[in-house]
Amino acid sequence: MNLRNLVADRLEAALTASLGEPAPAIVQPASKREFGDYQANGVMGAAKRSRQNPRELAAAVLEQAPLQDVAEKTEIAGPGFINITLSDHFLAGLLNRPGALISPTSTPETIVVDYSSPNLAKEMHVGHLRSTIIGDAMARVLTALGHRVIRQNHVGDWGTQFGMLITYLNETGSDSELLADLETFYRQAKARFDADPEFAERSRRSVVGLQAGDPEIRAQWRRFIDISLSHCQETYDRLGVLLTPDDVQAESAYNDDLPQVVSDLDSQGLLQESDGARCVFLEGSSKEFIGKDGAPLPVIVQKSDGGYLYATTDLAAVRHRAHTLGADRIIYLTDARQALHFRQIFAVAQQAGFSRPPMRLEHHPFGAMLGKDGKPFKTRAGSVAKLTELLDEAQTRALDMVTAKNPELDETQRQEIARVIGIGAVKYADLSKNRTSDYVFDWDQMLALEGNTAPYLLYAYTRVKSVFRRGEIDETTLDMPVALAEPAEHALAVQLLRFQETLEQVAEEGFPHFLCAYLFDLASQFMRFYEACPILSADSPSRESRLRLCLRTADTLKTGLGLLGIETVERM
Ligand code: ARG
Repeated sequence: MNLRNLVADRLEAALTASLGEPAPAIVQPASKREFGDYQANGVMGAAKRSRQNPRELAAAVLEQAPLQDVAEKTEIAGPGFINITLSDHFLAGLLNRPGALISPTSTPETIVVDYSSPNLAKEMHVGHLRSTIIGDAMARVLTALGHRVIRQNHVGDWGTQFGMLITYLNETGSDSELLADLETFYRQAKARFDADPEFAERSRRSVVGLQAGDPEIRAQWRRFIDISLSHCQETYDRLGVLLTPDDVQAESAYNDDLPQVVSDLDSQGLLQESDGARCVFLEGSSKEFIGKDGAPLPVIVQKSDGGYLYATTDLAAVRHRAHTLGADRIIYLTDARQALHFRQIFAVAQQAGFSRPPMRLEHHPFGAMLGKDGKPFKTRAGSVAKLTELLDEAQTRALDMVTAKNPELDETQRQEIARVIGIGAVKYADLSKNRTSDYVFDWDQMLALEGNTAPYLLYAYTRVKSVFRRGEIDETTLDMPVALAEPAEHALAVQLLRFQETLEQVAEEGFPHFLCAYLFDLASQFMRFYEACPILSADSPSRESRLRLCLRTADTLKTGLGLLGIETVERM
């Protein structure tokens, strides 16, 4: 149940009735606790448009809005804000309703989430961490809301580099230890390529053979790809990311469609030749497809030597996703530097009819991961950080923290808690920031027990659970209803009931940091309640009601963290 919408719908109906035409009520959580639970900001704009006195219009809206059963207090503030305080009785009623924490949408969609998508020529690095983590959280939230989610790992497995890599693989033998570290393997292959013209020539012949479908070269290429993919899968498993080999839909999967893409564009008159290459020039009034020099930017779909490009493959992918997968919406997660690429792809796909309206194509860009020095993130060794090393370090640091806090726990337990905290901290640090900005990777910040961090939330969860342990209470036997009286209970109840609207907002706008902010507020609200209201020492029925609030808080924290792809521990 979406609490915000429930309030908004009623106010909106009243506003529409007062005006004689539809107007948005613009309901948001109240900016200050004294203002109540929600505030409606839409009256001022509506009054201005219809030349009415905003405070009078607000009064007319409240007159008509059927809020008696939900609100304990409503008031008109300032130039025409409406403040709403929900009633304890209403909130308790919602909390006492049986049923799942999350309600499925009434309009389920088929949504493709294109994420992670590393280039298989090299080891997956921190650059792909953000796409993997944010994309996975989106896939989980959308699934939880009842959408049909199709994960697509659009890995780069095609292109000239692979000629060089398989030639080097032939030379070193496939059981070469080198393959344990693709980064080094790539560097050595490149060094061979640059130093030895004969090797370079063999590499080029490999590319030709690969593209022509030579079975032996294809087999070598497949071997290389499989090894690289298995490295990725290890990282996904370790990160607790949902991606499996079945979600891989590699660039090469579209090879056979590429000539058709180009001929479709051609037959629609969208192609032009420029320096021998075949291009689409996007026109339109906007300046977004104009280069720095004022000349229109081409989308090259076929090079003069006949080769296809990243853009051509992406056009084929849009078509596949629209027509074969039946997508209503496609979400792409890559860093912001690919923004122009996606704007171009979306525009060409629409013009060429590769996407079917009203299908939505969305690029969800993110900023770079920076070190504390503000430069692109590096490991201590100074190279571009490899993901595995990064996760190792996270777990080691978390283990130090757990050991300091809980020296009495045995080694295996501490290791397991450290794994959950370490991996969780890396993921949460990324997810909790607005993805559009660059983000500074900072071990001390992400592992801090204070503030909007994974350790804080995991700890808050154990605090809630400890109430049940201390009271020796079986959670499954709580059957008394929730009743609210104290302000701290009221505030906690409202926050608990905002879970649904938060998830819907994440799903719609594609910003998982809203869910992080929600969970952080929930944990903080719980701590306030915990300090203000005795639980185990309270008398019945308050005791049972408060235990129910604890249980709901624990469930919501665990479910919310789960939707971010973060595990919980029962103690830490
Ligand atoms: N392989 C690309 C990269 O590493 C990302 C691919 C994103 N997905 C897509 N459909 N273009 O930058």
